[in-house]
Amino acid sequence: MSIGIVGWGFYVPDKILTNADLEKMVDTTDEWITTRTGIKTRRIAPSDMAVSDMAAAAAQRALDKCGLSAKQIDVIIVATITPDMFFPSSACFVQSKIGAENAACFDVSAACSGFIYALELGRNFLCNKKYKNVMVIGAEKLSVITDWQDRGTCVLFGDGAGAVILSEVKSGGIISCYLGSDGTQSELLFLPGGGSRNPASEDTVKNKMHFLKMRGNELFKFAVRIMADSAEEVLKQAGLKKSDIKYLIPHQANSRIIWATAKKLDLDESQVFVNIDRYGNMSSASSAVALCEILESKDIKRGDKLLMVAFGGGLTWGSSIIEVS
Ligand code: COA
Repeated sequence: MSIGIVGWGFYVPDKILTNADLEKMVDTTDEWITTRTGIKTRRIAPSDMAVSDMAAAAAQRALDKCGLSAKQIDVIIVATITPDMFFPSSACFVQSKIGAENAACFDVSAACSGFIYALELGRNFLCNKKYKNVMVIGAEKLSVITDWQDRGTCVLFGDGAGAVILSEVKSGGIISCYLGSDGTQSELLFLPGGGSRNPASEDTVKNKMHFLKMRGNELFKFAVRIMADSAEEVLKQAGLKKSDIKYLIPHQANSRIIWATAKKLDLDESQVFVNIDRYGNMSSASSAVALCEILESKDIKRGDKLLMVAFGGGLTWGSSIIEVS
């Protein structure tokens, strides 16, 4: 049984934050951000827009793309680390916004690898034949967990959402998926405040514990290794060669990580999809939006194989090979 993508859509907020804007907020330069990260602009959602608003906009576009009605969606999975609230899940809010009254809804927390984790979950739901259509969404409002006074992190992140609908397909589909985690490395990227370990208090707010903390240097080294290793592993599991891949869709964390991964995989620059210059790192939404943009491009045809690979907080990593249906 082949499970593939039948609909897709993404949403990014209108507001563009440029490197020039950031120069006015922290001690940084456009030159530093561009050469060290590849980022030029990122999108920032307005204060009255939550993750489920962006996710629902992306979800509606995915429905419009394939002509399914919201009532035909059996499961909604939202990958996010910036849900509207602890509970209910953002997926439940999406259900209510798009009118997917027959769907079972839940969120997945795997940080930047979240969309690839959710894709694999969605595929497994469909493989048991009980469900017909699964909506998988990666959506983040990272601007609310970013410390806008910390130049080491605030230049990196942005907001957005991407959605795909998975169903049984006659050709192509998700060929293989590889997931992994290392919980011993959780302190490389985490958000300490607001959970059951450090419940919200005056102190947690004063100590900026509701903003993400990152050890960028160590994460960088880990990323370069794990992105290539997990791409190699999923290729091996699929019985495919690097030369079978039309496009690499790497997580958009840093252009230097992207190019180092491409080099390790012997892929030509033209085979690597990059949108970090426009959107920065949108965590789980990065892979989702990148996949939507590539499926929308004129370059893609049935039978092309796409290799997605991501890493993130947890630490987590994941890779997936999709043949265009
Ligand atoms: N503007 C100007 N200078 C900055 C800066 C900024 N925005 N941020 C940091 N710097 C400075 C540092 O203070 C340091 O100065 P010093 O040498 O005087 O101490 C210098 O630049 C180098 O800092 P360093 O952290 O070594 O830079 P780097 O080359 O490792 O780049 C990151 C920093 C964050 C861009 C990079 O480590 C990275 O991308 N890591 C991975 C992050 C990631 O992937 N996160 C998401 C995971 S999903």
